[in-house]
Amino acid sequence: MNNKKRCLLTGASGAIGIHMIAHIMQNTDWELVALDSFVKEHKGSFDRISTICKENPSWTPRIQVFYHDLNAPITKREIQQIGHIDYILNLASLSKVQGSIDDPAPFVRNIINIILNMLTYAKEIKPEVFLQFSTDEVYGADTKDGGGHPEWDVILPSNPYSASKACQEALAISYWRSFGLPLIITNTMNNFGEMQVLE
Ligand SMILES: NC(=O)c1ccc[n+]([C@@H]2O[C@H](COP(=O)([O-])OP(=O)(O)OC[C@H]3O[C@@H](n4cnc5c(N)ncnc54)[C@H](O)[C@@H]3O)[C@@H](O)[C@H]2O)c1
Repeated sequence: MNNKKRCLLTGASGAIGIHMIAHIMQNTDWELVALDSFVKEHKGSFDRISTICKENPSWTPRIQVFYHDLNAPITKREIQQIGHIDYILNLASLSKVQGSIDDPAPFVRNIINIILNMLTYAKEIKPEVFLQFSTDEVYGADTKDGGGHPEWDVILPSNPYSASKACQEALAISYWRSFGLPLIITNTMNNFGEMQVLE
């Protein structure tokens, strides 16, 4: 029997997701379901996943790529196709501040749909961990001394992107308190690096 942990990573073909795949492949023996919409407007790219798999052929048997736009719920049939999951790492999001200022409504809807559909899925499958990847931007500007914000600081978003990330956090916390979701939230600062879109 296969006792290896299975992890579902959403937003897997995004700028951070692709490095998360590499990190998991290099540092664990987990099997990975790499979920993404691969919709052009969502900024994911299947090429990123195929590139790292070509460069590291031994990873391929451990990675199951799963196409799903999280504006729609994960159906019962898809739950079966995904199979058993121990850990959920929820990275899927639109992530451009300026994009959220230029056209807030579709931006916010996408981010809220993602968390609602992922929380509904998690409530059904009961993972060991649900990690919600959030941003320090939910707290607004950095502190005057540049030392960052403490956990549970006041939420004071500066734009529709950070406001909708704060909504994701609030909904996830409500599932923790109402349904015992085993939740971890990270409030990461800006990341940049290889394979990121130039903007
Ligand atoms: N990049 C940063 O500096 C930074 C900082 C803090 C937090 N974050 C958070 O980290 C996570 C990843 O950020 P990133 O920079 O890799 O973003 P990215 O835009 O490069 O990747 C996001 C991924 O989510 C996918 N996605 C978007 N909408 C989707 C949907 N409806 N269904 C399925 N997949 C969908 C995209 O296709 C893409 O692959 C996000 O949650 C973001 O808010 C990013």
